[in-house]
Amino acid sequence: MTRTLAPFPATRLRRLRKSPALRAMVRETSLAPSDFIWPVFLMAGKDEETAIPSMPGVTRKTIDRVVKAAVEARDLGIPAICLFPYTAMEHRTEDCAEAWNPNNLTNTAIRAIKDAAPEIAIMTDIALDPYNINGHDGYVEDGVIVNDRTVEALVKMALAQAEAGADILGPSDMMDGRIGAIRGALESAGYPDVAILSYTAKYASGFYGPFRDAVGASGALKGDKKTYQMDPANSDEAMRLVQRDLSEGADMIMVKPGMPYLDICRRVKDEFGVPTFAYQVSGEYAMLMAAAQNGWLDQEKVMLESLLCFKRAGCDGILTYFAPSAAKILNG
Ligand code: PBG
Repeated sequence: MTRTLAPFPATRLRRLRKSPALRAMVRETSLAPSDFIWPVFLMAGKDEETAIPSMPGVTRKTIDRVVKAAVEARDLGIPAICLFPYTAMEHRTEDCAEAWNPNNLTNTAIRAIKDAAPEIAIMTDIALDPYNINGHDGYVEDGVIVNDRTVEALVKMALAQAEAGADILGPSDMMDGRIGAIRGALESAGYPDVAILSYTAKYASGFYGPFRDAVGASGALKGDKKTYQMDPANSDEAMRLVQRDLSEGADMIMVKPGMPYLDICRRVKDEFGVPTFAYQVSGEYAMLMAAAQNGWLDQEKVMLESLLCFKRAGCDGILTYFAPSAAKILNG
C-alpha cells in the first residue's frame, strides 16, 4: 500500500489525539469482558482457597468456590471459564488414569458449574501433566515422550470431559495427530457440537513456571518440554501447525504464551482468518503483578494495555488471569 500524506502542516497527526472524544472516534480496537476466557485452578475439599505465591491474587479453589467464580464471571459478562486441576499426589500415576476418571476434579466441576450457571461456556485442558507422576504432558517410555500412546489417552480424557458437559476442549499437549483423533472420537461418540480450541502454537517457554506451581507439576517435571512444545525461534512452523490443526477439525486456534508472541497472533489471523486466541500465561501475569506490587508499574494501566494489545494484534479473545479484575473495570 502506498501512503500519501499531505506534507506538514496540512497533516498534523496530533489533531486527532487532541481530546478523549476525538481519540474515541478513531480508536481501531476495543476491549470488553466478552473478550476473556478466565483460567481457574481447582482443588479437592470444601469451601477453601489456597494462595499461589508466584501468582499474587490467584488461588486454587474447591469446586463450590469455582462454581461461585463461574457465576461471578457470567454476571461480569465473561463468556467462558477454563478449568485446571491440582491433582492430589496419590492420584498421579504412570498410566495417568485419573485423567479420564468421570469423577475427577475437572469433570465433577464441569457438572457443578453446568447446574449453577449453564450460560457460561466451560473450557477444559487436555494434557496428562496434572496426572502424570513425572510432570510431562505425555507418557514417558525410556526417557522419551511417546506420541501415539499419549494420543489414545488424550482421546479418553476428551470423551470423559465431553460426557461431563464441557463446551470447549483445549488440547494443550502438543502431540501430533491429537486434534484429528479427538474430533473423530467426538463424532462417533455423539458429541458433534463440542468445540476444540487447540493450543496450536504452544512454545516451550520459561513463562509457564508459576502455572506449574499452581497445578503442582514443578517439582515433578524432569527435563523440559522441548521435544513436543515449539521452539521460540520459529514462526513458519506455527503456520504449518495451524494449517494442520484446522485440517484435522480444530474450531479455534491458540497462540501461547501471549505478549512475546504477538507477531505469531498477527500472522495466524492474517493468513487463516479463523478465531484466534492468545494465552496471557502465568509468567506474564506474575511479571506484571510483581512490578505492580513493587510500585514500579500501575497495575490497572498495564493490565488493560496488555489485554488491548492482544486485540490489536488480531486476537478474538484472551485467556487471562486478569479476566475478573479487568471485566470489573471495563464494566465501570
Ligand atoms: C499443561 C499446560 C500448561 C499451561 C497450560 N496448560 C503448562 C505447560 O505446558 O507446562 C500453562 C499456562 C500458564 O502458564 O498460565 N499442558
